[in-house]
Amino acid sequence: NPHKLQMEGKTSLELANCRAKGGSSGFKVAILGASGGIGQPLSMLMKMNPLVSVLHLYDVANTRGVTSDISHMDTSAVVRGFLGPQQLENALTGMDLVIIPAGVPRKPGMTRDDLFNINAGIVKTLCEGIAKCCPRAIVNIISNPVNSTVPIAAEVFKKAGTYDPKRLLGVTMLDVVRANTFVAEVLGLDPREVDVPVVGGHAGITILPLLSQIKPPCSFTSEEAAYLTSRIQNGGTEVVEAKAGAGSATLSMAYAAVKFADACLRGLRGDADVIKCAFVPSVVTELPFFASKVRLGGNGIEEIYTLGPMNEFERSGLEMAKKELAGSIEKGVSFATK
Ligand code: NAI
Repeated sequence: NPHKLQMEGKTSLELANCRAKGGSSGFKVAILGASGGIGQPLSMLMKMNPLVSVLHLYDVANTRGVTSDISHMDTSAVVRGFLGPQQLENALTGMDLVIIPAGVPRKPGMTRDDLFNINAGIVKTLCEGIAKCCPRAIVNIISNPVNSTVPIAAEVFKKAGTYDPKRLLGVTMLDVVRANTFVAEVLGLDPREVDVPVVGGHAGITILPLLSQIKPPCSFTSEEAAYLTSRIQNGGTEVVEAKAGAGSATLSMAYAAVKFADACLRGLRGDADVIKCAFVPSVVTELPFFASKVRLGGNGIEEIYTLGPMNEFERSGLEMAKKELAGSIEKGVSFATK
């Protein structure tokens, strides 16, 4: 009996926790912005995740269709759709993990910061809902500019008295996914075997791949390092230009978001050694938020790793990244506290 086998070796407390999570240790996940370019494939991939027992799809448009469509997939997660601000609270109540890809994407010629005016307000409103309805949920922020929207979320939670810095994570996984892919291409390796730490933030020069720390250990010429760093930093723009006005990365982003959300859920479940890069409240540098490797566990972020040894090229990149990041963080904080 495979069910029995799976249950053996668990304490009664663990079993009770499993039941509380909805039977077979499933988690409740909400996606805010579920009808969008990222939201739709992200919803589809989360419906395929066996750790998810309940999937709430929220948007201000088109959730009825997306929910009907996805609910026909023969996987175990129960899917429910929620449309518009009046249904936000029902979408959020009881959630363990909330993923936010709501907001406008870039068009050619735009920076992520150009999205601030629209997306800042969207993230603020959604986080007010989280503070009210599921203050203990892990929050994954995808909406750009991540370097500012994560500080906005923190301020909203502080104001509501629900802030837990261990539960707030800006999703920079796509930078890691791109870095792994581009580095594997240069080295002639299988991308699945490559792991590049990417630290700093999620925009242009704030995206800092630490090529000197990649696994498996490899060395690069300075030309290779410069080419790879620039390609990783501009990967998003590469897609925006190729889509020529039809949006930014959506499919690779959904893939990256699910990779990251799955890591958060495995951490919540109690898996050991779940380590990913993310933009989080941090003391690794003098800045209040920074992306680096974090260990995910039952409370969200259990440990934040220091940046480790960097070469000269990376150290000078770090200084440039910090300068820009400081401004983006400040912009988010002052928006949310004004
Ligand atoms: P999209 O425009 O295709 O979808 C956005 C969705 O958000 C739409 O369905 C829209 O109805 C919904 N929405 C708008 N206002 C809302 C509100 N108040 N509440 C709930 N939903 C709302 O955009 P796409 O391509 O899905 O991108 C979404 C965001 O993700 C953008 O800000 C984009 O810059 C960002 N992004 C982040 C990446 C990262 O690595 N963190 C990578 C790629 C994009």
